[in-house]
Amino acid sequence: MNELIWLNGEVMPLAEAKVGVEDRGYQFADGVYEVIRLYDGRPFTLREHLERLEKSAAGIQMPLSMTREALSAEILKFVPRTKVREGMIYLQATRGCAARNHVFPANCQPNILFYVRHLAPLEAPGAGPGAALHTVPDERWKKCWIKSIALLANVLAKNQAASAGADEAAFVEDGVVTECSASNLFIVAGERVVTHPIGPKVLPGITRLVLEQIARQLGIDFVERPVRFEEAMRADEVFITSTTREISWVGKWDAKVVGGGRCGPVTLRLHKALRERILQETGSLAGAA
Ligand code: PDD
Repeated sequence: MNELIWLNGEVMPLAEAKVGVEDRGYQFADGVYEVIRLYDGRPFTLREHLERLEKSAAGIQMPLSMTREALSAEILKFVPRTKVREGMIYLQATRGCAARNHVFPANCQPNILFYVRHLAPLEAPGAGPGAALHTVPDERWKKCWIKSIALLANVLAKNQAASAGADEAAFVEDGVVTECSASNLFIVAGERVVTHPIGPKVLPGITRLVLEQIARQLGIDFVERPVRFEEAMRADEVFITSTTREISWVGKWDAKVVGGGRCGPVTLRLHKALRERILQETGSLAGAA
């Protein structure tokens, strides 16, 4: 397979792309990233993802060297060259290469890259067995609103979940559920969708952002407040969201049945409305079964 990559303005085979070993992303995880879903060859919520990238870069005091508009234009030019229709764009910006020093070097030139990976279209809303969660302590830093490439705590958490036979790790701190290792978490209580506020312990997910808009349109209350673990375990419905999974209903948590062990009606309504929104923005019918 001839996968391509865009690296600092040049398009080349992914296998041939090289970045120096003193790239600060490699040595310090000094960088930020985005994952953007492609539907029928068109990126969904590209503007929102690039806005978040800018905020993440500002959060680590990293000048991006390219405007959002220029980056967007390059991505839109690049994607058709890959021939991938269903998939994701991985976009990463590190502070660049410099002699190893904790202090930011002056005039460091960021290394910016993006490439596309094929993903299988997602199942119809409500289909499938539902996700299983596994509780792990939240051992991440306190700037989770930054989409940093420093993901070791998330990686370890997800591996712990996988070892326990679960799909996602749910972070719980002082009895409060924050989010998952690569997704935001929501409960449905009555006709209300409840989720932890974004900030030190929760990434401002783009799917979460779209979901908030959709919930408001559907007249479903969207409440941001800490959710206690016990409350989540007895909630009417539990679901998680991310770019790559859209919405996954959760049927099990720590090997116990939650949310009635099925995709609840509010989750289903929200997911169908999200598919509609994807269809409107990308014109794609793929995965909209
Ligand atoms: N993960 N929280 C965390 C910690 C995440 O890593 C992600 C995304 C989300 C959901 O954000 P969004 O809706 O913008 O995808 C929440 C991506 C997909 C990843 O790292 O692969």
